[in-house]
Amino acid sequence: MFNIAILGMGVVGGGVYEVIKNNASAISHKLGGNGEPLINVAHVLDLRSFEGHDLEKVVTKDFDKIVNDPTVSVVVETMGGAQPAFDFSLKALESGKSVVTSNKEVVAKYGDVLLEAAKKNNVCYLYEASVGGGIPVIAPLINCLTANKVTKIAGILNGTTNYILTKMLYEGAAFEDVLKDAQAKGYAEKDPTADVEGFDALRKICILAGIAFGKHIPTEAAALRRGITGIDSADIAAAAKAGYAVKLLGVAEQVGDKASIMVAPHLVKQGTQIASTVDVFNAVSVTGNMVDELVFYGRGAGSLPTASAVVSDIIQAIRCPVAETPRKCCEEGFVLPLEETPVKLYVRTASAVSAELGTVIDLENGEKAVITEKAPYGELKKKLAGIEIKAEHFVL
Ligand code: HSE
Repeated sequence: MFNIAILGMGVVGGGVYEVIKNNASAISHKLGGNGEPLINVAHVLDLRSFEGHDLEKVVTKDFDKIVNDPTVSVVVETMGGAQPAFDFSLKALESGKSVVTSNKEVVAKYGDVLLEAAKKNNVCYLYEASVGGGIPVIAPLINCLTANKVTKIAGILNGTTNYILTKMLYEGAAFEDVLKDAQAKGYAEKDPTADVEGFDALRKICILAGIAFGKHIPTEAAALRRGITGIDSADIAAAAKAGYAVKLLGVAEQVGDKASIMVAPHLVKQGTQIASTVDVFNAVSVTGNMVDELVFYGRGAGSLPTASAVVSDIIQAIRCPVAETPRKCCEEGFVLPLEETPVKLYVRTASAVSAELGTVIDLENGEKAVITEKAPYGELKKKLAGIEIKAEHFVL
């Protein structure tokens, strides 16, 4: 029997408990058992008392009770927020327990420290659920693609905003209504600003880029974080006319011995897997210099898909508690500033535009859209200086 503790019984923690209970027999076989449950939730840290529920017997408000229990080998952190989640994770690792998390804020901020602590204590810090919900993308990057130099990652990394964009585009739904719906379904963050303004996607692209480029990348290093609130329906229509869908993307690309990293709305060619990804689904394209392009697709948020990734990490921690190689924080200047980031731009304008700027599309209201070639953002902005820009997005 393997004793675990779950910190936080919210949307994801509740899903973890459900997966462990409902799939107990299948999990037992995968751990070499005969079908009898092998994973026991020995403690749950939560402020509620869960009267009349199975959890009543194991719930505690005292983290020390968990960290001091020598029978607990894996601590599952599904609390959300940076603190006290980080402190608890560090203490658990330092006391020789593996930690499994879905908390992208903690991984993005303190992943370097926690991986180091895991290595020192010969346990693991696993965080598959922190990016892409139920989609396996972190383990493939760390393990299956490790022979490659990853040259580019581009993906829809936030289910809530993709859900909002889809419903607004295809069903003409109002922003506030769709956001409420996404909250009710357990997709959105406690403070949905993190979804809508791109903070969540930024944490996720920095986590992926960190693995890809072998350096911890703080979110502050990224060139740009833009959310979906600036997307105008005129641009969705203009993009559609030119054969593109508008998606909020996290993009990280190798540029020489540096990298470009950003989150912003992008025009994506219709017909590609990324453009076809709708609702709460996420899709992450990874290009490796040997394997070429791979696309990982699936449910990017929600209780059970995310719990699927968490519980798989718990099983992994039980099977093979070997630490991942820690990463040092990236040196200053490793991530290019926006001015130097090579991008393709889409702009909408009422001014007259020359075809020298790029592909010009005539819009029904008399305005024009221009799609440029790829060049450093600063150079493109200089070329476009003479025209009044009504909207600007990037093109994948
Ligand atoms: N709020 C996040 C999303 C949850 O919508 O993608 C999963 O990380």
